[in-house]
Amino acid sequence: MTIPPAQVGMRVEEVDTPALIVDLDAYERNLDRMVSSLGGSSVRLRPHAKTHKCPIITHHQVSRGAVGACCQKVGEAEVLIADGVRDVLVTNQIVTPGKIARLVALAKKAVVSVCVDDAENVRDLDAAAGPVGVRLPVLVEVDIGPHRCGVDPGEPAVALAKLVDSSRHLRFAGLHAYHGKAQHIYALEDRINAMEAAIGLTAETIRLLKEAGLECEVVTGGGTGTYQIEAASGVFNEVQPGSYIFMDVDYKRVEGFPSTFENALFVIATVMSRGKEHAVCDAGLKASSIDSGLPTVWDRPGLAYLKPSDEHGSLRSTDSTPLPRIGDRIWLVPGHVDPTVNLYDWFVCVRGGYVEAMWPILARGALR
Ligand SMILES: Cc1ncc(COP(=O)(O)O)c(C=O)c1O
Repeated sequence: MTIPPAQVGMRVEEVDTPALIVDLDAYERNLDRMVSSLGGSSVRLRPHAKTHKCPIITHHQVSRGAVGACCQKVGEAEVLIADGVRDVLVTNQIVTPGKIARLVALAKKAVVSVCVDDAENVRDLDAAAGPVGVRLPVLVEVDIGPHRCGVDPGEPAVALAKLVDSSRHLRFAGLHAYHGKAQHIYALEDRINAMEAAIGLTAETIRLLKEAGLECEVVTGGGTGTYQIEAASGVFNEVQPGSYIFMDVDYKRVEGFPSTFENALFVIATVMSRGKEHAVCDAGLKASSIDSGLPTVWDRPGLAYLKPSDEHGSLRSTDSTPLPRIGDRIWLVPGHVDPTVNLYDWFVCVRGGYVEAMWPILARGALR
C-alpha cells in the first residue's frame, strides 16, 4: 500500500492530492436512505462490495440491517471474510481449479454462495466441495436481458437447477437475475419497461422450477438504478445495490429514485500549472476512471474538467469564470465510482472540514 495521503485530525486543506475523499455526512445519509427506501418490505438488502472493496463499509451496511455482501471476485470475498463478514454471495461464475478451491475453503469459514451458468462448472464445484466437507449454496444465474453471464431463462435454467439439486455437495439456493444494462437507462419509464420484461422472465422461470419441485429460497438482483423495481415486484426477495453509497456523474443522470442518493465520493486535486486558457490539475487517468464519462468539477459551475492524460487533467472555463490559480484545490466527482475506487489504497473520510477516519481499501486490486 502507498503512504496514506492524510492523517486523522488533519484539516481537509492539508490532505495530499490526488486523494479519494468520502463526505461522511452524505455517505451516512445514503446508507440510511437505502434502508428507509426498503422499510417495511421483506426484501433483504445485500449491498455489492465491488463498489467500495472495503470491509469497514460492509460492516456499516450490515449494522443497518443488510444480510451480508455481494462480491464479484473470490479475492474480494477473502478480504471481507477475513475481516469478519459472515455472509457473502459471489455474483459471478468461478471456474478455474485454484479459484474453486479458494471458494470452497471460504465456505468453511462463513456462509458463501456462488452463481453458475454451466453444467461442467456445476460438476467442478461439486467435486471440490465434497473433500472439504461443505454443501455449497448455488444460485443459477439467468440472463434476463443484459446478455452478460447467465443461462437462458425458462427450461435451460430449470435443467441447470436440477443438476445443482442432484449434486451431493451443492444446494440449489435460487436464482441470480441481475440486469446490468438496465441500471443506467436514464429515463425512469424506459427503465421500468426494461425491468418489466426481465421480471416476467424471472417469474416464469420460478414457476417452471416450482413445477419441477424446486423452490427458490433466494431470488436476487437489482442495482442502484432498479432495486426499487425488483423490490416492489413480488418476485425478488433480495436486492444488491452498490453505487448508492457514493454515486457518480453517470448515476446522477439516472432519473427517479436513484437521484435521491447524494454524491459522497470525490477526488481532490491541486492545480499545478496555469496557462491563458486552461489550468492543469494533478488528477488524470490514474486518479479517476473515465469509462462512463469525464469527472465533473464539484461546486464550481463554469469550470469543466477535460482531456485527462495519465497524470494531468485540464480545467477550462465554460463562461467567464476565472481559471483557478496554481495551488488551488478542486473537488472532482468521478464519472464512474467502482473503477475509480480501485485506483486508491485509502478512503480519506471527512466531516466538518477535518479528516475523521482513514479506511483502507483492502480489496483494491483483488481481481482474482
Ligand atoms: C451482479 C451485480 N450486482 C449488483 C451490482 C451493483 O450495481 P450498482 O453499482 O449499479 O448499484 C453490480 C454492478 O455492476 C453487479 O454487477
